[in-house]
Amino acid sequence: MQFKLTEEHEMIRKMVRDFARKEVEPTAAERDEEERFDRELFDKMAELGLTGIPWPEEYGGIGSDYLAYVIAVEELSRVCASTGVTLSAHTSLAGWPVYKFGTEEQKQKYLKPMAQGEKIGAYGLTEPGSGSDAGGMKTYAKLDGDDYVLNGSKIFITNGGIADIYIVFAVTDPSHKHKGTTAFIVESSFPGFSVGKKEKKLGIRSSPTTEIIFEDCRVPKENMLGEEGDGFKIAMMTLDGGRNGIAAQAVGIAQGALDASVHYAKERQQFGKPIAAQQGIGFKLADMATSIEAARLLTYQAAWLESEGLPYGKESAMSKLFAGDAAMKVTTEAVQVFGGYGYTKDYPVERYMRDAKITQIYEGTQEIQRLVISRMITK
Ligand code: CAA
Repeated sequence: MQFKLTEEHEMIRKMVRDFARKEVEPTAAERDEEERFDRELFDKMAELGLTGIPWPEEYGGIGSDYLAYVIAVEELSRVCASTGVTLSAHTSLAGWPVYKFGTEEQKQKYLKPMAQGEKIGAYGLTEPGSGSDAGGMKTYAKLDGDDYVLNGSKIFITNGGIADIYIVFAVTDPSHKHKGTTAFIVESSFPGFSVGKKEKKLGIRSSPTTEIIFEDCRVPKENMLGEEGDGFKIAMMTLDGGRNGIAAQAVGIAQGALDASVHYAKERQQFGKPIAAQQGIGFKLADMATSIEAARLLTYQAAWLESEGLPYGKESAMSKLFAGDAAMKVTTEAVQVFGGYGYTKDYPVERYMRDAKITQIYEGTQEIQRLVISRMITK
């Protein structure tokens, strides 16, 4: 492990932190309450180049790396986890597979507008009957002339309804479980595509999560991503990096909760002195800070490995596992530091705690991360 933050990384962190403080934080609680996605905020992120951090300039990106990208997700999530996951799903789950497996035409047509933030991306894998067992999907794609015709539905789609481009996985050969799955780039304007139920959620409430439905949805053959039968591997490889984006989100949420806790603990007086000076609270803050630092190191390490072209799947599963648990623990402790006030909407820590929970669930539950890690260290 040899990663070192460069001047460019520090510059991007400062830029995103300033943006997050000025533009994202002031409306975070209100957007959460109203379950409202703000397209203008996304457009502002695009103006700063945040929607295409790791992609080369020829594809509309800013030509930086995965470490800069996770720093951006962390800084956004520090004030608003919904904004963090919007960028994470857009970059890791939609941009990445096109960058990695797309043809030159697909990159120009789909990656470029996503990198420039003109279009929003999403990823459709989960179905009502296949969550952790992603290979058990039923959405079916049948070749008919020059089109594949898709039928089925996907659920829990981050950026559902606001995205223009969906990376969708469907069965093309039911006689093979994993090798019978194919990936497609589906535009929201394709006939037969529609957006279904919007979930009402515990947390990340200003990030829309919906069902997407395919009813004889015609997808041109040239929108197949990779080769027929490559879909499951593409889905898994995409999640390898995506999980580290969620780890970054978790680090940001936890850091935001610690920031608020330190501030409060220094102001709040009980028994004649600030509660930060009482060991019960001071030790809590120390443990919170230590968990965050460890989670951050795992996350940056996985991002650095990916940027260097080294294997990162195991490290990414580890970062998501550790950071997700750290975020849940730290945010729960943050509510405890605030006491009764923490349980109210007058302070942001209850939102952080609600937002943290999803990092233990999506892009593979913590139990699936353990499965991935244990398979990798025993194979
Ligand atoms: N990279 C490359 N290939 C991979 C791979 C990876 N990371 N993981 C698996 N594969 C390959 C295997 O090598 C194997 O290939 P061969 O047949 O050639 O040997 C094939 O894929 C099948 O692999 P497994 O036998 O390991 O497959 P499995 O059915 O046991 O499933 C699993 C493995 C890890 C449990 C997988 O199903 C999984 O990750 N499940 C969780 C799904 C998930 O994370 N869903 C999240 C949804 S997206 C989301 O939440 C996004 C959001 O909106 C924010």
